[in-house]
Amino acid sequence: TDGAQLPVLVIGSGYGGAVAALRLAQAGQNVAIVEKGMSWTTAGSDGKIFCNMLSPDGRSYWLRTTTDQPVSYFMGASYNKSISSYTGVLDSEHFSQIRIYQGRGIGGGSLVNGGMAVTPKQQYFGSILPSVDPAEMYNTYYPRANAGLRVNNVDQTWFESASCYQFARVGRKTAQASGFTTTFVPNVYDFNYMKQELANTAPRSALNAEVIYGNNYGKNSLDKTYLADAMATGKVTITPQHVVTSVAPAAGTGYTVTMNQIDTSGNTVATKTVTAQKVFFAAGSVGTSKLLVTQKATGKLPNLPSTVGTGWGNNGNVMVARQNQAWDATGSLQSCIPVMGIDNWADTGGPAFAEISPFPAGIETFASLYLAITQNPNRGTFSYNSGTGGVDLNWQQAWNGVGIAAAKRIFDPINAKQATVYRTDLFGSNKVWGDDFAYHPLGGCVLNQSTDNYGRLQSYPGLYVIDGSLIPGCTTVNPFVTITALAERNIENIIANDFK
Ligand code: FDA
Repeated sequence: TDGAQLPVLVIGSGYGGAVAALRLAQAGQNVAIVEKGMSWTTAGSDGKIFCNMLSPDGRSYWLRTTTDQPVSYFMGASYNKSISSYTGVLDSEHFSQIRIYQGRGIGGGSLVNGGMAVTPKQQYFGSILPSVDPAEMYNTYYPRANAGLRVNNVDQTWFESASCYQFARVGRKTAQASGFTTTFVPNVYDFNYMKQELANTAPRSALNAEVIYGNNYGKNSLDKTYLADAMATGKVTITPQHVVTSVAPAAGTGYTVTMNQIDTSGNTVATKTVTAQKVFFAAGSVGTSKLLVTQKATGKLPNLPSTVGTGWGNNGNVMVARQNQAWDATGSLQSCIPVMGIDNWADTGGPAFAEISPFPAGIETFASLYLAITQNPNRGTFSYNSGTGGVDLNWQQAWNGVGIAAAKRIFDPINAKQATVYRTDLFGSNKVWGDDFAYHPLGGCVLNQSTDNYGRLQSYPGLYVIDGSLIPGCTTVNPFVTITALAERNIENIIANDFK
C-alpha cells in the first residue's frame, strides 16, 4: 500500500527474488515482493490458466497484438497470429538488434521456461564466476538449489520407448553417429506426471504443446516451490501487477521506492511510494540493468559504479533446425520438456552445448530443432536514453557469428554424415540461423565488478542485486540452476552480516 514502511522489499519474483524471500523469511524477516506480471492462478473462459503454443491468445504475450514466436516462420512464411493485447506471460522485449524473451508473472522465467535444470561441469566454473569458490558452490549451494527447485530426472527406461521423446532419440542417434557426446538433462517438470499424461490418466500439459506460454500441469515452477515455501512461513507477501520505476535514498534511513500499479491492458491505475530499509533487485538481467542505469543517469542513485549496465551476454544462444531423412521421423506427439543435450563444450575450437528441442507442430515434420549455448565472448552495454526515457542495449546481431561458428562444428558434421540439410524456412525466408533472439539474458550488474562479491551495491548500504544480472554473460549450460545457487550463496552471507 501507498506510504508503507517496509523492512525488506524484493523487486521481482523470479529465481533470485524467490530465494531471497524464502531465506530472509526463514531468518525471521518480513518480506514484501512486488512483481510486474500477473498472478497466474485464475482460469480463463476455457477453464485453463495458460494457453498452448498451437492456439495462442492474449495470455501468451506481454502487451502484443500479434504473437512473436521464436520460430516464427514455417515454409518461409510468418505464422504469427493476431492476439488481444494483455499482460500475458511471455515478454519478447525488443532492443535494436535482439529480442530478449522473459517470463512475466509470479514466478518470473520459471513460468515459461523449458525447466532444464543443468548444473555446469565444475571444471568450467572458473570461467563462469571467477571470484566465487567452486568448492562451496558444488558442496553446498548447487545441491541446495537443486533440492529447493525439486529437480528430477527422466526414467531412462521409459524414455527409450516413449513416443513423445522420439525427437530426442533421433537427435541423440544422429549426434552419436558423428561422434558427439549426448547427455540426459535434469528438469523441474514432474516426470511421473508426464508418464501419466502419456498413459492418458492425467490431463496433458507438456504433451499438449504447453511450455513457453506456461504449463497448466506438471511443471514445478517457482510458485510451486521456493515461493510456496516462502508464503508458508507467513512472513512474505507478493503483490502482482506493480512495476517499480524508481529507487532513491529516503530522507531518513532506507530507500524510497516508486511503483505503478497496472491493469491487464498495461495502463497505470495508481502510483505508489513505499519506504524500505533494504531493497533487493531481482527483476532479472534486463529488468535490473534497466532500473539501475536509469537510477544512475537520472540522479536517483548517482554513485552507482560506472560498470552498471555492462557485461551483458546472451549465453551464446543461437537456434537452428535440420531436416532429417524420411526414415528418421521425429514424431507428431512431442513433449515440450527437453531432456537431452549434445555436449561439445570440450571442443576448444568452439565450445557448444546444444539442447535437443521439441518442435511441437502437432504433425510429423521430420525436423530436429536445437538451442545451442556457446561461448560467445561479445558483451553488450545497457544505457539510458534521455530522448526516449528508455534504456537501449548495443548488442549487434553480427556478434552471434561466434555462436553460429561453434554450432556449425556440431551440425555441419551431422548433416554431412546423415546427408541432410539445415531448414531454411523457420527463422525467416531462406534463413538458417535463429540469431536475433535470446532465451538466456545474463549480466548487466556483474558480481565483484558492479557489486561486492555477494551482490551488495556498496555505495548504497542496504541495496542488493540477486538475479541473473550478476552473472557475466555465460553459464556454459542453461542458467537458472546457477542463478539459484549463486542467490543461495549470496543471501546466506547477507543474512549473516547485514541482518544482525
Ligand atoms: P526472472 O526473469 O526469472 O525474474 C525477474 C522477474 O522480475 C520477472 O517476473 C519480471 O516480470 C519481474 N520484473 C522485471 N522488472 C520489474 C519491475 N520494474 N518491477 C517489478 N517486477 C519486475 N533457463 C534454464 O536454466 N533452463 C531452461 O530450460 C530455460 N528455458 C527457457 C525458455 C524460455 C522461453 C525463456 C524465456 C527462458 C528460459 N530459460 C531457461 C532462462 C531462465 O528462465 C532465466 O535465466 C531465469 O528466469 C532468470 O532468472 P532471474 O531471477 O534472473 O529473473
